[in-house]
Amino acid sequence: MMEKTVLINCSPKQKLSVSGFLMKCAGVLIRGKKEYFHLRTPADYPAILQALKGAGKVVFVTPLYVDSIPSHMLPFMQEMEELCRGNGLRLKVYVIANNGFIEGKQNEPLMQVMENFCARSGLTWCGGIGIGGGVMLNVERIMITVMFGLMLLNVLLSAVQGGDVLDAVLSFGKSLLGLVILACGIIAFGIRLAVHINRGTDAGKKYTRIMLPSFVFIAFADIFFIIVSVLQGGIFRGWLSRFQPDAGCSIITENGK
Ligand SMILES: Cc1cc2nc3c(=O)[nH]c(=O)nc-3n(C[C@H](O)[C@H](O)[C@H](O)COP(=O)(O)O)c2cc1C
Repeated sequence: MMEKTVLINCSPKQKLSVSGFLMKCAGVLIRGKKEYFHLRTPADYPAILQALKGAGKVVFVTPLYVDSIPSHMLPFMQEMEELCRGNGLRLKVYVIANNGFIEGKQNEPLMQVMENFCARSGLTWCGGIGIGGGVMLNVERIMITVMFGLMLLNVLLSAVQGGDVLDAVLSFGKSLLGLVILACGIIAFGIRLAVHINRGTDAGKKYTRIMLPSFVFIAFADIFFIIVSVLQGGIFRGWLSRFQPDAGCSIITENGK
């Protein structure tokens, strides 16, 4: 009988997280019984810890935060360590990490944190993949949805007006192929990782990225952040803003004042 696999989306985002998307993709490729969880707050711990008791493998799908794991994962990992040591659980641990910068290798410190966590908790570290430019996966899936909708509309209009329906489908196919090529490293390493998870073997650490030249990625990222900055606070916020970030904060000293 195949061991149960627990997949944990560790992004603090409620929706539209890259980790959530990657977790669903991994779930399609992983065979056997699977359970999916979202780790955001301590209220999520009991269900996940309970599921881990009956599992053979766990896949952490996480964003990179400040070159490491997001801080909300730490208290959970402390509880998981206690559970695993106390019950002699020997889970196999895999990690799928994604980060904002273009190089997937940026995830190396995160992988080391997870490897150390396994050593301390008596778990089996089985490696994983680090994905650079992860945010582009969100852009890609939004584009695919929009393009698919436009294709359907085109097909409908062509059918009504007696045009060539195949043209609309072919043009969608070409755009889709372009997006698949951009993600080909992620797809290849993702499939490779899934094969290892299914066999329960060590996958090692592999790093990949979205296949955009860095200078193109950086130009897009700059434009994106300027737009977000203008929409969310106005350009040059911080320089020209009257709001002082520490105006509402107080410092608590050792004697409580
Ligand atoms: C607080 C914070 C810290 C981050 N630190 C890094 C970092 O050190 N290196 C990096 O490449 N990306 C960093 N990022 C970008 C995220 O890793 C990136 O946006 C990722 O795709 C988010 O994944 P998610 O949608 O699954 O949460 C950071 C993002 C946030 C919000």
